[in-house]
Amino acid sequence: MITQQQDAVIRAMLPADLERVILVEREIFLFPWSPGNFADSLKAGYTCQILEQPDSLIGYGIMMMSPEEAHILTLGIAADWQNKGWGKKMLLHLIALAKAQNAKSVFLDVRESNHSAALLYQKTGFQHVATRKGYYPAMCGREDARVMQLVL
Ligand SMILES: CC(C)(COP(=O)(O)OP(=O)(O)OC[C@H]1O[C@@H](n2cnc3c(N)ncnc32)[C@H](O)[C@@H]1OP(=O)(O)O)[C@@H](O)C(=O)NCCC(=O)NCCS
Repeated sequence: MITQQQDAVIRAMLPADLERVILVEREIFLFPWSPGNFADSLKAGYTCQILEQPDSLIGYGIMMMSPEEAHILTLGIAADWQNKGWGKKMLLHLIALAKAQNAKSVFLDVRESNHSAALLYQKTGFQHVATRKGYYPAMCGREDARVMQLVL
């Protein structure tokens, strides 16, 4: 379902956006990235994109390009904007950018327990290709990551 997307734009993230991005990050992730993680991604020249409407940050995505592969490092949609098609929109945008840079595959990691994100990735054509044991911190110990790949 895609609603109210008339005024939404996706654009490159700027240092001035970091404060708003971090607020959303802390709202939606139990183990959020630090401000330094975002600042380092910008400095490193990763593909850092935000999705916004006037006065509202809807979400963001960060992707690292290597010669033939793209790695989506994070994707987040603010709680009030979830389940309305925005995550899919940002994901398809990142995939299009990866294709435009001649990537052959897009990879990402997702927590074993994150069923909604895994569903989005599966519906977009990603396949579970590997498991990283104990990759993520969790409330009780560690949690596995599913490595997912989309062949372009
Ligand atoms: C995961 C996340 C990015 C998805 O974005 P979203 O805007 O909520 O999802 P969308 O509305 O674009 O949904 C896209 C598809 O995924 C499926 N989906 C998304 N959330 C779902 C849920 N809670 N239950 C079932 N299906 C779900 C929908 O079926 C939808 O498919 P459709 O287009 O065929 O209807 C977003 O919910 C989020 O930021 N969550 C918290 C942070 C997070 O987990 N990020 C991912 C880290 S890997």
